[in-house]
Amino acid sequence: MAESTNIHPIFDRLLSRSEREERLGQKGKVLWLTGLSGSGKSTIAQHLERRLFENGYFPQVLDGDNIRSGINKNLGFSVEDRTENIRRIAEVARLYAHSGLIILASFISPTRAIRKMAAEIIGEKDFLEIFVNAPLEECERRDVKGLYQKARSGQIKGFTGIDSPYEMPLEPFLEIKTDELSLAEGVELLYQKTLPEIQL
Ligand code: ADX
Repeated sequence: MAESTNIHPIFDRLLSRSEREERLGQKGKVLWLTGLSGSGKSTIAQHLERRLFENGYFPQVLDGDNIRSGINKNLGFSVEDRTENIRRIAEVARLYAHSGLIILASFISPTRAIRKMAAEIIGEKDFLEIFVNAPLEECERRDVKGLYQKARSGQIKGFTGIDSPYEMPLEPFLEIKTDELSLAEGVELLYQKTLPEIQL
């Protein structure tokens, strides 16, 4: 008797990804927004998060505000630290995606190697690369946080785009040119491209 109830012990116990996705009514996915500081990544991610949520989905933004102030607060901006930053973020995003959540990860992730690592950790089929593209001059003109000015004056060393490289994605899932589109247009474009990817 005991044996017959225990034929599939693990199968019975473990809640599968698809059961979670069914409950949430969506496919787990990671939208990976890459681009220069000030290109508009986090703003787009936050608006998309609200838009998805209001339409019945369950999204979660990951960005510097909730990651670099907490789990990654011991990391700086050397190549090693940026790599470790992205590695941990990718591992967290992977866990969330396996729980059925739609992750909007907004990080400079400056090199192709770093983004390749993220894609490999997350798994290619769950990873959508979004290039939030504004020319350096435009990001510098905006200088939302005043950091470009500090980088130019030498107060900050190794700033992406100034004295640290940014490698553009070669074949992103989507490119959003934030100097040509309004915020609303950019969010709409991403929303429409995302829907087929998250629908069950
Ligand atoms: S990443 O390169 O490791 O992916 P991440 O997206 O987490 O970077 O953090 C970038 C944010 O950190 C920038 O938007 C900016 O506000 C701040 N920052 C501080 N120092 C630097 C720097 N040297 N290079 C780029 N961003 C920096």
